[in-house]
Amino acid sequence: MAERLLIVEDEAALRDSLKRVFERDGYEVSSSDNAETALQLFDVAVPDLILCDIILPGMDGIEFLKTVRARSKDQMVIMMTAYASIETAVAALRAGARDYILKPVIHEELKRIVRIALNERALKAENEILKRQIAAQFDFLTIIGESKIIKALIEQVKLIADSRSNVLILGETGTGKELFTRAIHHNSSRRDKPFVPINCSAIPDHLLESELFGYVKGAFTGANQNKRGLFEEADQGTVFLDEIGDLSPHLQSKLLRVIDDHEIRPIGSTRSRKVDIRFIAATNRDIVHAVKEGRLREDLFYRINVVTLYLPPLRERKEDIPILAERFLNRYANELGKGNLKLDPSVEMILLEYAWPGNIRELRNIMERAALISRGQTIRKEDIPEELTGQRSFTAEGVDRRLSIKEYTKEFIRKHQADMNEQQLADCLGITRKALWEKRKRWDLLRQ
Ligand SMILES: Nc1ncnc2c1ncn2[C@@H]1O[C@H](COP(=O)(O)OP(=O)(O)OP(=O)(O)O)[C@@H](O)[C@H]1O
Ligand SMILES: [Mg+2]
Repeated sequence: MAERLLIVEDEAALRDSLKRVFERDGYEVSSSDNAETALQLFDVAVPDLILCDIILPGMDGIEFLKTVRARSKDQMVIMMTAYASIETAVAALRAGARDYILKPVIHEELKRIVRIALNERALKAENEILKRQIAAQFDFLTIIGESKIIKALIEQVKLIADSRSNVLILGETGTGKELFTRAIHHNSSRRDKPFVPINCSAIPDHLLESELFGYVKGAFTGANQNKRGLFEEADQGTVFLDEIGDLSPHLQSKLLRVIDDHEIRPIGSTRSRKVDIRFIAATNRDIVHAVKEGRLREDLFYRINVVTLYLPPLRERKEDIPILAERFLNRYANELGKGNLKLDPSVEMILLEYAWPGNIRELRNIMERAALISRGQTIRKEDIPEELTGQRSFTAEGVDRRLSIKEYTKEFIRKHQADMNEQQLADCLGITRKALWEKRKRWDLLRQ
């Protein structure tokens, strides 16, 4: 995407020559001969950098600089001045100018200053993205499993990773939907571009819209500054839409437009911007059902569902349980400085028989806990939670007694609310924390 410059200069000859010079270098340039019009341009063009003369008719350059920085505190501005006084330079830098350049402007020098400033800005943005990615690095690139299913899935990921196709990943909670999404991004040519995970069920609708699309100052009460949206930040990268079924109808239709036209428009802005994004969506609910019921637009479903990956629950690929358990166990044991730990055969049996409603996440948590509380080098029965060691698992019991989903959920909450936190409970049940809270309220199960 071309970088955007805004030039504010009342002297027509200089303004036009600068515009030409920068356009020739591939920048998208807007310009104005006064600060008032420039402010209006600023709101729609959202420039990456502004070049501004200090002496202007009407509002002067320093005032303009202050106003712009109040709207968008990271806005980069370079001042141009013919009056080489220390005072004006100091005033400009105080008001937040990035740099200033003396007139007569030498094109090569100005180009160099602009390049340095923009590179620095890009670096800062990249650092932000890197920070997000490092936070998740522990889980990264390590899809463990030896079952046929997992091996076939990994092959499929390799095949589709580098295409532009959008992907839909289905699977119960904790089956690795996010892990696979990261693997796809990492194996694509977009790997050095942003990976932006967005949880559609965690953020209220109106906030989500401004998070995704960004806004311009004054678009709504409280929009005191311009803000770039996540879709714009994700340009050339991958966006992970987690729990896509929870997207509101309004956002579904806006998303459809992004996918079809590769364009986004910040809230309150009159201008669209091109973006190049690959979408990977995931859900742990029955998405076909959601389409039938009209909660998810059919056209959006087809745009996202170009490739489908179905991650089966752990109980359907039990042969992966021992290797997963062992890897998780030793990952934590190493962190704790405990050397290599192994599972007692009786524990392995229990793990193989358990139904794993929370899938791999649940197995990981149990191994983390076992590594922590075990004494000696072997994990024994005492080191794993009792409900696993019980004759039969909770799910098996539920199936046997033919509990309805509602009764099952109720019992599960009652049974586990003392030993799990809200997030864990919600994850195991495959619902949002909000939904969990509502259920507990309805069934009078809120903790005292
Ligand atoms: N095959 C695997 N190998 C190693 N770790 C795995 C595997 N599958 C899942 N995990 C780990 O299990 C945990 C849960 O996985 P992830 O967050 O990808 O699940 P999810 O399907 O997105 O779950 P949810 O629907 O609850 O969001 C993560 O720590 C992930 O790294
Ligand atoms: Mg997830």
